[in-house]
Amino acid sequence: MALVTLKEVLETAERTNTAIPGFNIDNIEIPEAIMEAAEAENCPVILTIGQGAIQAGGLRHLPDVVRRLAESSTVPVVMHLDHGVSYEQTIACLRAGFTSVMYDGSHHPFAENVRESTAVVRAAHAVGVSVECELGAISGVEDGISHSGANLVDLDEVRRFIEVVDCDALAVGIGNAHGIYKGTPNLDFDRLAACRRLGTPPLVLHGGSGIPADMIQRAISLGIRKINVATEVRLAFLEGLEASVGCRDIYAVYGAAKSRVTELARTKIRMFQNKG
Ligand code: G3H
Ligand code: ZN
Repeated sequence: MALVTLKEVLETAERTNTAIPGFNIDNIEIPEAIMEAAEAENCPVILTIGQGAIQAGGLRHLPDVVRRLAESSTVPVVMHLDHGVSYEQTIACLRAGFTSVMYDGSHHPFAENVRESTAVVRAAHAVGVSVECELGAISGVEDGISHSGANLVDLDEVRRFIEVVDCDALAVGIGNAHGIYKGTPNLDFDRLAACRRLGTPPLVLHGGSGIPADMIQRAISLGIRKINVATEVRLAFLEGLEASVGCRDIYAVYGAAKSRVTELARTKIRMFQNKG
């Protein structure tokens, strides 16, 4: 099947009151392992290329890998740019065949975020590509889970942003953080519910690694339709490699790492699809 847009899979999520997983991919084996999980669970999937992967390999190989995996897939696949850093980078991704781009202007002053996000939406929509924007910068694990941090989205900014920026998905900071949480995450569900009441597009939860199942269910019930997972995917792959130390069969080594990723991805998919 051909690649689909983020907008399309989020419509499915909205209809079924579920969330679609956005898994970061860093090599060829990880997306292969994720596709095995997505097909086994019969769930659409967002294969996400982030800044680390772009710094390591540019846009030379991974977009081709994703496109080919999608072509032979039995489930819808989105090729998505994570935390896009500039208008120029999103344009490069449009050229590389992405079907969804995130422009993350959350670290910029509000007016600049609005201006850049508007420009990205205009360019991406002109070629049928979806756009995710962000409000309320999602911090790293160091200062991520404190509610006194700067990553709580401002409701007035949400209201003003969606009035002028026609994005297809909106990532919001509600106490979530990238990396592994120190202790239980402290998510502001009231704020999430208030965002949704403002009539936002489908909401996105970043920092999905390590958020307990009950919190995931609650977030989905309040309008989260896409959940990003990166750290746990990388750790699963690395743990698979570490478990094979001493093995001299490269296929067995990669096979072990891929199995860990498939297992992790199946667990997350089931959680996000409310399958227990
Ligand atoms: O954009 C990527 C995600 O928000 C992943 O966060 O590494 O905490 O799973 P994570
Ligand atoms: Zn993120």
